[in-house]
Amino acid sequence: MKVLNRLALAISLSCLSQVPLAAQAGEVEVLHWWTSGGEARAVDTLKQLMQKQGHTWKDFAVAGGAGEAAMTVLKTRAVSGNPPSAAQLKGPDIQEWADMGFLTDLNGIAEAGKWNDILPERIADTMKHDGDYVAVPAGVHRINWLWINPEAFQKAGAKVPTTLDEFFAAADKLKAAGIVPIAHGGQNWQDTTIFESLVMAIMGPEAFDKVFVETDENTIRSDKMVEVFKTLKRIRGYVDPDFAGRDWNLATAMVINGKAGMQIMGDWAKAEFTAAGKTPGKDYLCVVMPGTQGSFIYNIDSLAMFKLKDEANKKAQNDLARTVIDKPFQEVFNLNKGSIPARNDIDMAKFDDCAKQSMQDFQAANKEGKAEPSLAHSMANTSYIQGAIFDVVTNFFNDPNADPKKATEQLVASIKAAQ
Ligand code: GAL
Repeated sequence: MKVLNRLALAISLSCLSQVPLAAQAGEVEVLHWWTSGGEARAVDTLKQLMQKQGHTWKDFAVAGGAGEAAMTVLKTRAVSGNPPSAAQLKGPDIQEWADMGFLTDLNGIAEAGKWNDILPERIADTMKHDGDYVAVPAGVHRINWLWINPEAFQKAGAKVPTTLDEFFAAADKLKAAGIVPIAHGGQNWQDTTIFESLVMAIMGPEAFDKVFVETDENTIRSDKMVEVFKTLKRIRGYVDPDFAGRDWNLATAMVINGKAGMQIMGDWAKAEFTAAGKTPGKDYLCVVMPGTQGSFIYNIDSLAMFKLKDEANKKAQNDLARTVIDKPFQEVFNLNKGSIPARNDIDMAKFDDCAKQSMQDFQAANKEGKAEPSLAHSMANTSYIQGAIFDVVTNFFNDPNADPKKATEQLVASIKAAQ
């Protein structure tokens, strides 16, 4: 009898502990484009945290750096009335989706979690639509980085550059040593990642804002912009012949294995070095893009939450939002992703020197008005303006006879037509 009682108690207790889980467990379908080795490791941390809470993770990964393909697929799904629970949406795109009424508000969760206190204002504002939280930030990437293979530099007798002149001097040395100077993938967003870093280096943060956020005609139609295109053309001369269509992570692999000396890329590239077991400062160097020291081109990764009908899935979606903002996720995701936490109260002790510098520079740039949103990564303007700029930059990059002055005029015209 006693034994039976104990057994009954044990069974009912174990049922009890499972009841809340089973009753509340739902499914989260998350759209993202984190498919490279490093990115996949990072997103896996979220999947595991959600599964630990009893929820089912439905991965909705659409390959393609910077997410152009993912956005196309998202539109099809949403229009057919079947959006995912969450999607990696950024900057002005968040506003567009919220304007169309697709996003659910997270104010209750945000209030309970004191999001207004733990997020820098700039990040909080990006997550809000008409004052309501509709997205949750995962981390902050910096675009204006230069990744260097120090062994290749040593072989070539090249010096780590701090100015654009030194950058080209290093490129010449690498070229002479038979090493590809600049690893690059010819895709519109990658071309524009270099272009916007050059705008920052040559024109500075104030003009960067005028060009990409305000699309101010006079700032775009300027001698400085002509110089930006001239410099882009020069960079084109240091890229290997097989660059067309190459994915960004394959370009990073060229720096990892010493085939190439440098890559201009956001710090998701660091996730590839991390996944390959490389140590910063030893196996590779992260150097602020020459000429952009003190400035910070930022790219906030965030998940926007779509309106759902199913109660269990709504609960799972709320848990997803809470999990993303929680300290454990902010730490482990960003350690794997190469970015820095979005929250301002995360202990950076476990992070490497690149991340520590990124955090310091982001905070300083924020104070000094030198933090600017990335155009290439959908933070600065609408997808229409972004597309218009992509077209001009990529056509220019691929045409050996392209003229920097004409490209500047085309930029003005193309932006006007997209407005
Ligand atoms: C960015 C995104 C990053 C990274 C990168 C390459 O737009 O914000 O998280 O994934 O694309 O795919």
